[in-house]
Amino acid sequence: MEHQWLPFTPNREFIADPKMFGSAKDAWFYDLDGRPILDAGSGLFTTPAGHCRREIADAVYAQLQELDFTPSFLRSHPKSFMLANRLAELLPAGLDKLFFVSSGSEAIDTAMKICLTYHRARKDASRTMFVSRERAYHGVNFGGVALAGMINNRRHFGGIVTGAVHMRHTWLPDNLNVTGQGLHGGRELADDLLRLIQLHGAENIAACVVEPVAGSTGVLVPPVGYLERLRELCTAHGILLVFDEVICGFGRTGENFASQTFGVTPDIITMAKAITNGAIPMAAVAVSRTVHDTIVNAAADGAIEFFHGYTWSAHPAACAAALATLDIYRDDDLFARGRAMSPILLDALGSLRELPLVAEVRGIGMLACVELKSDGAPGRRGHLFQKRLYDAGLHLKTTGDNAIVSPPFIFTAEQVAQTVQILKQTILELPQ
Ligand SMILES: Cc1ncc(COP(=O)(O)O)c(C=O)c1O
Repeated sequence: MEHQWLPFTPNREFIADPKMFGSAKDAWFYDLDGRPILDAGSGLFTTPAGHCRREIADAVYAQLQELDFTPSFLRSHPKSFMLANRLAELLPAGLDKLFFVSSGSEAIDTAMKICLTYHRARKDASRTMFVSRERAYHGVNFGGVALAGMINNRRHFGGIVTGAVHMRHTWLPDNLNVTGQGLHGGRELADDLLRLIQLHGAENIAACVVEPVAGSTGVLVPPVGYLERLRELCTAHGILLVFDEVICGFGRTGENFASQTFGVTPDIITMAKAITNGAIPMAAVAVSRTVHDTIVNAAADGAIEFFHGYTWSAHPAACAAALATLDIYRDDDLFARGRAMSPILLDALGSLRELPLVAEVRGIGMLACVELKSDGAPGRRGHLFQKRLYDAGLHLKTTGDNAIVSPPFIFTAEQVAQTVQILKQTILELPQ
């Protein structure tokens, strides 16, 4: 325990009371003594097909013996093109050029650079501002933190990269406890973008970046009409629309991508997490043909069109893991299974609304949030809750006082019931 510094963790507290996993299988983690802990968080939104899938392990093992590494600058390998083809089949029509990276944070910063390069290629280079949203999470690199709408992330690092302005978040009391999309306020909230356009000038705005459902800050499902209005405004004002689908992608909201669930097509989609079922770090940015072709065609013959890339872009083992993962999603019809489990999950969680400490239960697809009432110090009750859940045998992510339930799509009705039972018992035992 001497030498590691854990991310997003109170390190002294962890060392005093370590919470470790030793192994995992299907919907279960096991601690170092072999105690089962039900994984109602899909790891960290990463593992919809369940843990330790043999097919993925075999594909990675075989790949590492055949071709362990290829640089992606001026060189490539066939599986990266195969993966791009497979992803293009899942994505909304027209969003079919893929740029590979290794994390959600890298995907967002890459998307931001693509937006800037696109406008520069069109000789519209004054468009450098980004519009984002309160309660947004776009990873931890400097671009993503500039977009972030989470107070602590912004407070510590948000001011270094400037040029991001924020719309209001999409939580409204009028839509309290709604399952799926709320009916109220969608168009009005989206018109925040119009106000920012009027204030800053469309000619200065490169892109509007949103999570279709804000995930990490507690599953804020956009009200009806919200995403449609953002699309309308972006199109009318020459602003690119970017959906950060790092959590929403790969069936989490019902369809392949949330773009398809909500019927709104952005110009760029970022994805990560479930792309390899969590087995190997991998992420991607899907770009519309128009954006891609504009950038590539603006460069002189033989010139590099986009000055960006990573050593690990399209790593062969990651591509092999992703291809095996997409096979599982297809062969097991896993997104359909998630769609079928969703009402069972959301109904069962809804029963927690009656508990005095529960402020709200909301969700869509296989993504839900049980928000606890604050005890006066925001996040304190949630922090205690997450520690006790581990002890009670349940894993999920908490942010502040929000417990985010995002089970693997292989979850059974019995495991849903177990999840709700542990949540209920643990909430009842929290200090009132
Ligand atoms: C919407 C969104 N974007 C970006 C990220 C950052 O991804 P990573 O942690 O892989 O860098 C996350 C992580 O949770 C996320 O939820």
